[in-house]
Amino acid sequence: MRLLLLAPPGAGKGTQGTRIAEHYGIAHLAAGDLLRAEVAANSELGKQAASFMAAGELVPDALVIEMMRSQVTDSPQGWILDGFPRTRAQAEAAYAWAAVRGMTFHAAVYLEVPEDELVRRLLERAAVQGRSDDNEATIRRRLAVFHSETEPLAEYYRGRGVLVSVDATGEVDDVTARVLSAVEQFVPAT
Ligand code: AP5
Repeated sequence: MRLLLLAPPGAGKGTQGTRIAEHYGIAHLAAGDLLRAEVAANSELGKQAASFMAAGELVPDALVIEMMRSQVTDSPQGWILDGFPRTRAQAEAAYAWAAVRGMTFHAAVYLEVPEDELVRRLLERAAVQGRSDDNEATIRRRLAVFHSETEPLAEYYRGRGVLVSVDATGEVDDVTARVLSAVEQFVPAT
């Protein structure tokens, strides 16, 4: 099973990605978590990514594409991608790479949450976890970047017949159930 979560900041990509990965026994590959680990390790990639992340901007495509390729290659049992691709260039590079290996994904899940609820969730998390990009100005910038760079990918995936939209408000368990129900039709025959 190969899935993609396409959703704005705070919609629940990380929360649901962990649960869906566990359900299918696949890897949860979260671009933001991987980048934060690189920053924490002070690696070359982390040094290049840090200022973009702190400002709520996207890390340059070439860096992210390379990082995600190696993760996908290491997870032959399947995966759920969380936060990648986020630009048309990333989507096209990922597709070109996966198509020749017979590894394109089965469904792209769009998590729908109203903007005021996204901001509420992220400010609530800021008070608990203190993630450096969870302040109101940077949250607004992340949302604007999502609308300009990432949201248009929904049409791209709709055109490929793999997009499903899910109401991601309400209890976490209920959202998980909705996601699993929505992707059922895409589960490959074993
Ligand atoms: P990333 O870490 O992906 O951040 P994000 O997209 O802003 O998403 P979040 O992690 O804030 O939210 P989420 O949707 O995962 O929701 P979560 O489950 O955590 O990326 C960070 C940065 O890295 C980017 O800004 C960019 O700089 C860089 N980057 C990453 N990928 C990149 C790429 N492909 N290209 C270039 N740059 C890239 O939930 C949020 C909160 O809500 C939590 O507190 C959670 O407990 C709560 N919550 C979840 N579900 C519910 C619910 N149903 N009800 C109430 N609360 C809920």
